[in-house]
Amino acid sequence: MSSHPQPHFSLTDRLRSGYHRVWYEASQALRWSRGTFREQSTGTLTQLTNAQFRRVDDLAAIYHRRFEANLPPETAFLNYAYLDLLDRAKHALKWAVPTGQHVCDLGSANFAYAAALSTFFQPIRLVGVEVDGYRLYCNGRSRLDYARGHIQDLPRTDYVVADYRQFNQSAHFISAWFPFVTPQPLLAWRLPLSLFDPNAILARVANNLIVGGTFAMINHSLAEARVAHHLVEATGLVCQGCYIHEHPLRPRPQPAVLTLWQQS
Ligand SMILES: C[S@@+](CC[C@H](N)C(=O)[O-])C[C@H]1O[C@@H](n2cnc3c(N)ncnc32)[C@H](O)[C@@H]1O
Repeated sequence: MSSHPQPHFSLTDRLRSGYHRVWYEASQALRWSRGTFREQSTGTLTQLTNAQFRRVDDLAAIYHRRFEANLPPETAFLNYAYLDLLDRAKHALKWAVPTGQHVCDLGSANFAYAAALSTFFQPIRLVGVEVDGYRLYCNGRSRLDYARGHIQDLPRTDYVVADYRQFNQSAHFISAWFPFVTPQPLLAWRLPLSLFDPNAILARVANNLIVGGTFAMINHSLAEARVAHHLVEATGLVCQGCYIHEHPLRPRPQPAVLTLWQQS
């Protein structure tokens, strides 16, 4: 557990947290899985604007990958949206992205975007780490089942149900897409406050990164990125630059922000 003091939480937050804890602990005890669940591809993308189709075609040509060939339309488009952010950040920050690295993604949910990471990094190994991997969906499938389907066609890719605070595996590159840096989004995701521990998670990132390795954090907004910036800075990682995704492929309430950090 973290040595950092926990922030003060209201009674309502604690009650919500207690409720979420029951479900979270039940899913951890049950470890439910019905096996790999493969969402069906239709081979196409639907309901995109002309501009979105054009950008998708650009990305497919640059990265030689058509996500809709293996994934259903929504998941395929999600992968283009994540790839779009990475691609634009790469150009804006003049980010030299080495291939053949050990890449780890923390807080991967059902790892629906694994294909985008695999395509962009062409890693020697890709691992998604998710603490709430046994969460059940209405159809009786767990996140783990979906994640296994999402990584089925990807080379050298794993999905691990684990608390990243105790995850001890070095990597050249670590990503965190929309991690919880304030408690309210964590409660909105129906998780207990005992999991709100950004300092410990980021300290583990700094420990797991090899010297010269890179950490990319993607936040929902500039305001959230500012909060995150102070937390990451406290780990000793050095900021390499920040990219604001002003014109995302998929409309968002606020532009996402990608910040690169280096282990020196
Ligand atoms: C806001 S969600 C983002 C999910 C995903 N990265 C995406 O872009 O869709 C944050 C995720 O982090 C996971 N998480 C929170 N604390 C964690 C921890 N200590 N270790 C691993 N995963 C964690 C949550 O369960 C949740 O799935």
